[in-house]
Order: sequence, then structure tokens, then C-alpha cells
Amino acid sequence: MHSKILGTGHETGPTLLTNDELSRIVDTTDEWIVSRTGIRQRYIARPEDGVVTSDLCAGAGRKALEAAGIDAAELDLIIVGTVTGDCKFPATAVFTQSKLGATNAAAFDLSAACSGFVYGLELADAMIRTGAKKKALVIGGEILTSMIDWEDRTTCVLFGDAAGAVVLGECEDESGILGTYSRSNGDLAELLWTPGCGSLRRLSPESLAEMDHTVKMRGRQVYTNAVRCMADSVEQVLKKTGLQPGDIDLLVPHQANIRIIEATCERFGFPMEKTMVNVDRFGNTSAASIPIALDEAVRERRVGPGDTVLMTVFGGGFTWASAIVRL
Ligand code: UT7
Repeated sequence: MHSKILGTGHETGPTLLTNDELSRIVDTTDEWIVSRTGIRQRYIARPEDGVVTSDLCAGAGRKALEAAGIDAAELDLIIVGTVTGDCKFPATAVFTQSKLGATNAAAFDLSAACSGFVYGLELADAMIRTGAKKKALVIGGEILTSMIDWEDRTTCVLFGDAAGAVVLGECEDESGILGTYSRSNGDLAELLWTPGCGSLRRLSPESLAEMDHTVKMRGRQVYTNAVRCMADSVEQVLKKTGLQPGDIDLLVPHQANIRIIEATCERFGFPMEKTMVNVDRFGNTSAASIPIALDEAVRERRVGPGDTVLMTVFGGGFTWASAIVRL
């Protein structure tokens, strides 16, 4: 017994923000953003839009449930991978549970930054394998712009707001989650983090003045680690499942930067034609990025039943993970 993806869905923030619009609020250009990242636009949830992370999660979840043909009351588990939840506590997953009317589900958040969705997939699969749960909704959902410093051009051009979801159910045939791999390295946490508003640097007039509540990133170092770790975890998950790169019908990598995606593919000789890319339209949506790309691939029929998909991600922590699934 293991688990299988029964349906996928995604939802974006309501407001489209183009590179040209960004260049009017911060010292940047469309040319710089496109050439360094591949991003052309992103969807965001502005404060005046009145949309919170659990709204995006519930929207994505509803579409995934509809695709799976499952009622919310059949769910017994909801995991939301997020670092930008509705509030400090309780979990964004419980607000999502309430909005969906998933009256029989346990619900909790998982904090692994961009890797939150793939970590959640591994965990939900393990819980289904043990028989503890039968039907899970795994979501990656973020409103990253809620902790962006709009005067910091090295970060504010990168992120978008969205959620992506999959419904997992029991499966006994040769399809489903074939293998997963996950790792972390907290020694490098300070290369990509939000230091403020926790017990480390408590909220104070000083912490606010220093913008401690916003994302701080050393881009170059993150970039180098991302390529190395994603290439390694792809190798590890292939080894674990006994598959070769040629057995993979579609690679769904984390959508942070087109250059990271290309460099990762190059490292293990994987063709870009078989790689899902939508960073140009969504920007980096952190934990939401992989389930959104997977949902688009399914809805555009780039993949279908029987196809093998490899997902790989790297994010703050550092955390990184890969999963191979047969649809
Ligand atoms: O989700 C996982 C976590 N995040 C990532 O995976 C992001 C990983 N890192 C990256 O994608 C890249 O490092 C960035 C896209 C963030 C930056 O690209 P880069 O090629 O590494 O640029 P850089 O940071 O080395 O900066 C090059 C120059 C600098 O100017 P000087 O010092 O050479 O004069 C920056 O100040 O580009 C400047 N710069 C900008 N210029 C225009 C930085 N941001 C911008 C900007 N617009 N938005």
C-alpha cells in the first residue's frame, strides 16, 4: 500500500504585477529581471485585495478535490507547506480545513520554506502507507509578498503569491509515489531567512526599523547551493527508485530562476524539452511552485495516466527534496 495523486489544482493571488510596473517602484528593469531570472510577471495578493494564504490554499484545494472527484468530508489529513501563513498560530491548515468544510481531517502546517510541498508529499505518503490516513490534501501556499521589503531590489522582484494542491489517496498498483528523498543543512540558514518576529529577535521598534520581518537573501550563495543540492537529490531519488533519467517523462523543478533550472538539467543531462517551466508567469512562489507547475502540466495534458514525473526543490533552511511519482 502506498499513495497516488488523484487530483491537482492551483490558485493565484488576484493582482498581476509586471516587471515594468516593478521598475516604477524600485531601481530595476525588465531586462535585468528577465535575463537574470526568467521572470516576466507574477501574481500577488496586495493588502487591499483582502486575500489571505488560507484563501489561496482553499481555492487550490477545492480545484484538486474537484479533479479527484472527492468530497472535502472524505479527507482525513490536510498538510499546508507555508512560511507565510495567515497568522503566527494556529496553522493556516486549520483555516483551510474550515473554508473547505473538511470536517473529518486533521490539519497542520509544515515549515520547510520552498521545500514545504515535497516534504509534505513525503510525509502524507508515509502516513497513508502506515494506514494512519486514507485521503490527504497536500498544499503549498504562500503570500511571500507579505514579508518582502519593497525597497530591496535583490528580493522584491523574485516572488509571487499562490497555492498549489494535490489530493493523495490509497493505491496498490504500480502507479503513485515511487520514491522520495529529503535533506537539510541548517548551518547555512542565514543565507536565506526572515530573522525577526520570533523568539530570536522579538518584535520591537528596533526590529521593525531594521526590517527584520522581511526576507533576507544572499542570492549568489543560494544559487550555487540550489544547483548542487537539486542535482544531487535528483541523482539520489533516481538511485532509490532504480530509474534512469530516460525513464522520466517530465521534470517539474522548483521555479525560482530559469538559470537554476537549466544548470540543474545540464548537470544530469536532462533535456529542457521534458522540463516544466512557468517561472516567467508566476515568479518564485516558494512552496506553491511545484504543485502549480504539476497542475499546469496535467491540465495542459503534457502528462497523463502512466507517465512518470520527477519533482525537485531547494529552499530556505536550507532544505531540499525530490520525489518521483507515476500518474
Ligand atoms: O526559492 C529558492 C531560493 N531562492 C533562489 O533560488 C534564488 C537564488 N539566487 C538567484 O536566483 C540569483 O542570485 C538572483 C536572481 C537573486 C541574483 O542574480 P545574480 O546574477 O546572482 O546577481 P547578483 O546578486 O550577483 O547581483 C548582480 C548585480 C549587483 O550589482 P553590482 O554589485 O554588480 O553593481 C546587484 O546590485 O545586479 C544588481 N541587482 C539588480 N539590478 C537590477 C540585484 N538585484 C537587481 C535588480 N535589478 N532587481
